[in-house]
Amino acid sequence: MSAPAPRPDETAVQDFWSERPMIHPGFGFDRKTATPEQIFAHVERLMRHDNWMQAEGQPLLSRFIDYEALRGKTVLDIGYGVGWLVEELQKVAAEVHGIDLSRSHFQYSSYRFRDNPRVKLQIASAEAIPFPDNHFDFVSAYGVLHHAADDQRCYDEVHRVLKPGGRCFLMVYRKGGPKYWYWKMLRQGLLGGGLARHGWNVEKFIYSVTDAYEADSPGAPISRHYVRADIDRLFRRFKSVRAEICGNRHEWDNLPAHRLPLTNWLLPRAVRDWLVTHAGAYWILRLEK
Ligand SMILES: C[S@@+](CC[C@H](N)C(=O)[O-])C[C@H]1O[C@@H](n2cnc3c(N)ncnc32)[C@H](O)[C@@H]1O
Repeated sequence: MSAPAPRPDETAVQDFWSERPMIHPGFGFDRKTATPEQIFAHVERLMRHDNWMQAEGQPLLSRFIDYEALRGKTVLDIGYGVGWLVEELQKVAAEVHGIDLSRSHFQYSSYRFRDNPRVKLQIASAEAIPFPDNHFDFVSAYGVLHHAADDQRCYDEVHRVLKPGGRCFLMVYRKGGPKYWYWKMLRQGLLGGGLARHGWNVEKFIYSVTDAYEADSPGAPISRHYVRADIDRLFRRFKSVRAEICGNRHEWDNLPAHRLPLTNWLLPRAVRDWLVTHAGAYWILRLEK
């Protein structure tokens, strides 16, 4: 099943994510020889590794998504990737729909849920969600809509397809924390010459190093990083907006200062964990229509 042809700038986004499915290379995992089942298990392991979004053994993102409240509901996951969140949602929801621009994500996830008639996936854009108004009880999009060609249009579409009182969970990139300022801007941008190579155009440079998973891979065509004022503007149609900062431990743990034993003593685990949830690379948004 596929939607009408995407707009020209969406085509670049679609091609990028079709050619580079979210399998997360590295970590000693050879995706070229892996079976789909090994890929699904690998992504699940990575999602659980070192992050703050669920307690051990609990469903992914259960710190933020109340899965019990979704029992018997109609839900939509935007940008489903290889289906790790659809996997959790289908355990409770009556119907799980998914849209994603990526052709390879559609192939992986269609295969994954081939025997589950309650999961219905399409290649389609969040800029024109192919569902009527007030249709869904819940919409999720993890690491997706900051990559969209027209992000505001996507958020307005999410608002349109949610039922009144319906809820939404989003993870989007934040402009802040060591990942943005130290690893990208300072190391790759200033010291590595990336900013100069992009004519000191910060946006172009940041896109070029965001989601560039392999040494020779370009970054995603679009990767917006939001500040708090962007959140207030983009989601003003929603009745309530709860925005929290989150991230991964490695943002802080990999800073060169942490190689010194004294720094580990000065910044013990608990302090670094506090920093992750107050100065990490993600916004976790919980919205209500
Ligand atoms: C970084 S991947 C995230 C995939 C998945 N959520 C995950 O965490 O593995 C970004 C995804 O956003 C999708 N995407 C970007 N713009 C989109 C749009 N306008 N509509 C639907 N999907 C979009 C891409 O196709 C890609 O699958």
